[in-house]
Amino acid sequence: MAEFHSLTPTDLTPAQWHPFLVGAVAPRPVAFASTIDAEGRVNLSPYSFFNAFSSNPPILVFSPANRVRDNTQKHTLQNVREVPEVVINICDFALVEQMSLASTEYGKEVNEFTKAGLTELTSELVRPPRVAEAPAAFECVVEQIIELGQNNGAGNLIICRVVRAHFRQDILLPDATGIDPFKLDAVARLGGDWYCRASGASLFEVPKPNRHIGIGIDQLPEHLRNSDVLTGNELGRLANIESDALPTPAQVEEFKSEPMVAYLMNKYRADAPELKKQLLQLGRELLAEGKVAEAWKALSIKQILQFT
Ligand SMILES: Cc1cc2nc3c(=O)[nH]c(=O)nc-3n(C[C@H](O)[C@H](O)[C@H](O)COP(=O)(O)O)c2cc1C
Repeated sequence: MAEFHSLTPTDLTPAQWHPFLVGAVAPRPVAFASTIDAEGRVNLSPYSFFNAFSSNPPILVFSPANRVRDNTQKHTLQNVREVPEVVINICDFALVEQMSLASTEYGKEVNEFTKAGLTELTSELVRPPRVAEAPAAFECVVEQIIELGQNNGAGNLIICRVVRAHFRQDILLPDATGIDPFKLDAVARLGGDWYCRASGASLFEVPKPNRHIGIGIDQLPEHLRNSDVLTGNELGRLANIESDALPTPAQVEEFKSEPMVAYLMNKYRADAPELKKQLLQLGRELLAEGKVAEAWKALSIKQILQFT
């Protein structure tokens, strides 16, 4: 069992607590929010206390905190109180430095579009402009503002309903039914000055379990559940199988004549522990390739069972 550093937030100052909170609740997407005040002055600031919370109605929520320094309120919050509209622009890797620059605490009269060298595009249904360079933008009306506290660092939830959304053509899936994650090239904020980029090898798929009822880790055969080789991810993937998809004894028998399996069984026929190791390894490789049914066959060969 790992050892844990356990904390009670009220025992710490906000400045001591904050790095643990944002370091562990990570990575967080960034709402690059454009707003205007009653005089029509434009503001653009990033907020990583942000996410989508409902599809229908389409709700996005972000949270400007009272400044820790002097408990004053961010311009974004002041603006949405005056004009309850916001465009939440999505930040990709190409935008990350300009987005960070826009987080500078400029005076209220300063338009961060200008400071960050970004282009204002007129929105269709709300008054704040959107960021032309952003791969996606959500025009929103502000439904509710919830103050989460009065002290320094207290968040203010800005609950936004999307009324119009824009997605750059080149980030769409070929059939335009959604967003291609490889093309979005999203970035997200972690603790400190750390960001991550969702691209290339860092993207991977986990098949959704909700389309069917997987057997669960508790139902895995003991030789797999208690294996000291298989990881939690591998067990999770194996346990996502439906019971009627488990290989039959006949299928396992047939699998033994696959060239690689036949080769291993022949080569290690006099070395049972090594054969078990090799079959487990083969199962893991098949899992890594996404071949769950084949992995199950490799891991069901009774030579594995016999020598546990
Ligand atoms: C990536 C990123 C994420 C941020 N997230 C938040 C946040 O969730 N809440 C917050 O109050 N400030 C956050 N900030 C700091 C604000 O952007 C910063 O205070 C900004 O100056 C506020 O501008 P405004 O007063 O013009 O609204 C973040 C800064 C960066 C660079």
